[in-house]
Amino acid sequence: MHLEPNVAAAKAGKHIISEKPLGRNAEETKLMWDAAVKAGIKHQVAFNYRFVPSIRLVKQLVDSGKLGRIYHFRATYLQEWIADPDFPMVWRLDASVAGSGTIGDLGSHIIDLGRYLVGEPKSVMARTETFIPERKGADGKIEKVTVDDAFQAIVEFNNGAFGTLEASRFCPGRKNYNTFEINAEHGSVRFNLEALNELEVFWKHGPVDKDTMGFTKVLVSESYHPFWSNWWPQGHFIGWEHTFVHELAHFLDAIVNNKPVTPHGPDFEDGYKNAVICDAILNSASSRRQVDIKY
Ligand SMILES: NC(=O)c1ccc[n+]([C@@H]2O[C@H](COP(=O)([O-])OP(=O)(O)OC[C@H]3O[C@@H](n4cnc5c(N)ncnc54)[C@H](O)[C@@H]3O)[C@@H](O)[C@H]2O)c1
Repeated sequence: MHLEPNVAAAKAGKHIISEKPLGRNAEETKLMWDAAVKAGIKHQVAFNYRFVPSIRLVKQLVDSGKLGRIYHFRATYLQEWIADPDFPMVWRLDASVAGSGTIGDLGSHIIDLGRYLVGEPKSVMARTETFIPERKGADGKIEKVTVDDAFQAIVEFNNGAFGTLEASRFCPGRKNYNTFEINAEHGSVRFNLEALNELEVFWKHGPVDKDTMGFTKVLVSESYHPFWSNWWPQGHFIGWEHTFVHELAHFLDAIVNNKPVTPHGPDFEDGYKNAVICDAILNSASSRRQVDIKY
């Protein structure tokens, strides 16, 4: 549903913010990126997790060199909403409409975070699984599920970091469990969307008492934390919806003040590169081989 309106809007000279995944595959997303570049408009993809304050804080820790060399990026995005075999057929389970299942829907978010926080991936090796291959449609007829219900991928990054990505909609009890951990030269950080105002941090050489040394839970809500100077006093928390406020404010600022959308805002080039990685995960799973990432 994104291709036709996005290309039409670009041709009409309109700035565009489009939901993720930008398209069903790399080929389709490239058409949208090309149309946006040709039209000279501002373009952004709604990877809203870049606009979570604690994730932006992780970006600052990476860019400042405080974490040092990154060894691991371990990301999971787990949900439970189709684990019931009686859950009906919906558009998200039809590859002709959705492109893929967990890969494009949930995986695209953690792929974006991997590219944003760690860097470009070099290769992927993946498996997918479809646990329930048929479901009842709205008219009661049995329809084929043509997407992945879950995927797992091993990722090599160009900078030598080594990672895993996993997403599933078959995890009873997991509501919107979008988590990652980065292990690096000087310490580790761990994020969990279900507690989005928090960040767990461990510093290898931190000024701490040896007997109580361990991960520290930081409440990311101080006025000097990313985005927080615009919100409430510390500890008066924000939620998922505020990530959309942040991403829209970023996009409007880019338009009104003629600023670039990147590097903190994901643009259609990021949407295209994300789709290349999604395609590579699908190809790796179907061919059972490692696939190099080529943009
Ligand atoms: N960034 C995020 O965190 C996030 C979260 C949820 C969904 N999404 C993205 O948002 C998009 C929509 O997902 P959703 O969960 O809201 O889906 P949905 O099925 O709940 O809603 C889609 C809506 O689009 C309408 N629609 C369908 N075809 C249309 C057409 N031709 N013209 C006008 N309206 C039409 C449908 O009637 C429906 O109301 C997807 O790209 C999804 O990946 C992003």
